[in-house]
Amino acid sequence: MDTRVTLQPLDLRAWMDERLARVERALESWVGVDAPVDLGEAMRYAVLDGGKRLRPLLVLAASEAVGGNARAALRGACAVELIHAYSLVHDDMPCMDNDVLRRGKPTVHVKFGEAGALLAGDALQALAFELLVPADDGVPEAMQARLCRLLAHAAGSAGMAGGQAIDLASVGVKLDEEQLRQMHRCKTGALLQGSVLMGAACGEPNAAERAALSDYGAALGLAFQVVDDILDVTADSATLGKTAGKDAEQDKPTYVSILGLERSRAYAQELHRQALAALDASALADTRALRALADMVIHRAS
Ligand code: IPE
Ligand code: IPE
Ligand code: MG
Ligand code: MG
Ligand code: MG
Repeated sequence: MDTRVTLQPLDLRAWMDERLARVERALESWVGVDAPVDLGEAMRYAVLDGGKRLRPLLVLAASEAVGGNARAALRGACAVELIHAYSLVHDDMPCMDNDVLRRGKPTVHVKFGEAGALLAGDALQALAFELLVPADDGVPEAMQARLCRLLAHAAGSAGMAGGQAIDLASVGVKLDEEQLRQMHRCKTGALLQGSVLMGAACGEPNAAERAALSDYGAALGLAFQVVDDILDVTADSATLGKTAGKDAEQDKPTYVSILGLERSRAYAQELHRQALAALDASALADTRALRALADMVIHRAS
């Protein structure tokens, strides 16, 4: 028997605004403050004033779903955004996607030079882990270690960095659907699923709850990159805040290039359904924010 009480619909805008403000304040106070001047400026340029902050919101929503430690969750939320921001700085460099527009502004290497962008990425990655291991912020050491382990795994060779390596090796290559899925799971899905798992690690979910959140994160993470591939074809640069049409121009294998637009849209819907089904099958009491974030991933315009 389902013993869960029926909850009122969530006011997502209000829920998000409060959390986004908290994350922005924290990033503002933590990023680039004690760095030499140019490096600090480049770090802050890469992180502040832009981005949807989806990964931080996933950390906070998952933590709330398991009654997690709010201080740990805020640190986890900022840490994952720093890894994401560093991945974008490096993704845009001439040796990777060679992009000049990101979050509606010139990319970091355009503004600060290639060495500046490389170092800003390096420093953001290090700061992400430093944030997770505070000496005195009420985060138990075992929880700190769990958060570091999850973030390192999601960002490293089995996750984002590995996926980016596959991406670069796949230019002009005709991948089959399974190979494409694997690339997308690594380069983008891992950090999004990692965000959900980090939120879960701020509490003490049981094995079934943790597995449900993991399944939700996996489906949502893949859906996110399928939609990114679709938007690269269907949206314009002003809306995206980054150059549209880059994937075809650079001959990257994407869901659109392999399945076509209609089947890609249908696949994104199917993954959305899987993400919600994982939450439905769980005994978690309040999954409203997680559900709303899954809706956002699918219906976003940028
Ligand atoms: C863009 O991510 C890069 C991908 C992983 C596809 P987002 O679309 O989340 O970028 P921001 O953070 O909102 O700029
Ligand atoms: C980037 O994928 C994934 C990252 C790890 C940064 P894309 O190269 O498709 O991201 P965009 O389209 O430039 O944001
Ligand atoms: Mg790329
Ligand atoms: Mg790119
Ligand atoms: Mg893209």
